[in-house]
Amino acid sequence: MTSARKIAVITGGNSGVGLAIARQLLSANSDKHEFRVVLACRNQAKGKVARDELLAAHPRALVDLVELDTSSVASVERAAIALRTLSQEHHGISLLFCNAGAMAIDSLYIPGIVSGLLSHPIAFFESSEALRQKRGLVTADGMGETFQTNVFGHYLLIARLTDAMPVGSRVIWTGSAASQLQFKASDYQHVWGDKPYESSKYIVDQIAVPLDQRLRPLGIRCLVAEPGNVCSNFLAGLGLPLFQYLIVGMFYFIRFVLGMARFTINSDSGAVACCYAALADEDAVDSRIKYHSQATRTGKPYVAQFPLTHNKDTAAFLMGRLDGLVKRFDDEPTREK
Ligand SMILES: NC(=O)c1ccc[n+]([C@@H]2O[C@H](COP(=O)([O-])OP(=O)(O)OC[C@H]3O[C@@H](n4cnc5c(N)ncnc54)[C@H](OP(=O)(O)O)[C@@H]3O)[C@@H](O)[C@H]2O)c1
Repeated sequence: MTSARKIAVITGGNSGVGLAIARQLLSANSDKHEFRVVLACRNQAKGKVARDELLAAHPRALVDLVELDTSSVASVERAAIALRTLSQEHHGISLLFCNAGAMAIDSLYIPGIVSGLLSHPIAFFESSEALRQKRGLVTADGMGETFQTNVFGHYLLIARLTDAMPVGSRVIWTGSAASQLQFKASDYQHVWGDKPYESSKYIVDQIAVPLDQRLRPLGIRCLVAEPGNVCSNFLAGLGLPLFQYLIVGMFYFIRFVLGMARFTINSDSGAVACCYAALADEDAVDSRIKYHSQATRTGKPYVAQFPLTHNKDTAAFLMGRLDGLVKRFDDEPTREK
């Protein structure tokens, strides 16, 4: 009975944490076929491979593909129309995972590796100091590429889908390590800074609470979950398979020997916090908490909760900027209504 299913949209659902979220939703209460999963992906070929994998494991599941490139306003607008159409067959969109994300890696950053290892060898492995990110990347829409991919594309999608989300639905952002140090109001899209990725995830942390406050009267919750350190395709930009194997080995070693719980390593362990934020009872979730996927030394995943660091003034500033951008595209004459 398809009409009884809840729609769960997962951006970047074709790989890594996003695909693991899809697997876990389809496995939860699998006898009830509770969810119809929509993989919202920019690469349809990869999306089809992911869909086939899910259907092979869950032959009675409903899995759809919708094309979405979060770094393009036109693509987000098209995807929103497709998702709204799909949602009309059901009771709207119950879960929206804002998960797609990218770090534009330029190269390894040897000075960062040396100074990080010498000055804070343990915290170093939780950071991205070893990587040099590309600067100056701007999209065709005129925004910082990482900002638009990780933040604004999703913010716009939420704006376009809010009225298709029924009471009891949730928006779950995949957050990450985010530091205030990387954020500058004068370059809030972090086009010219060294850490566009961390800055974009800092914005996610800042806007989650005010967005939750805005959506709550509509019966929609907005939460942030963090996968921990996962060996997904995230480092593919380095293009060094041998190096990636080395990192995986090192992560296992660090977790086992030092007991560093944020090294979840595999995508399924990384996805547990996102799924917890999506499926936990209403009174068990709080937008002021960041839900972290963690794992024991031997790899047993669990969810830890930490306060979400959030500055009211910065959040208000960012909400103003993001709303201004949405308004700008509201008025685009090319937008299909
Ligand atoms: N891996 C980690 O250690 C880690 C840690 C903290 C947070 N995270 C967050 O976890 C989320 C998922 O990352 P992952 O680790 O699963 O890496 P991943 O395997 O590389 O998955 C990233 C997903 O995002 C998609 N994506 C990237 N840019 C996009 C765009 N412009 N439009 C639409 N989709 C786009 C990718 O699509 P393609 O397949 O087409 O590239 C892919 O499906 C990200 O938000 C990331 O920031 C990851």
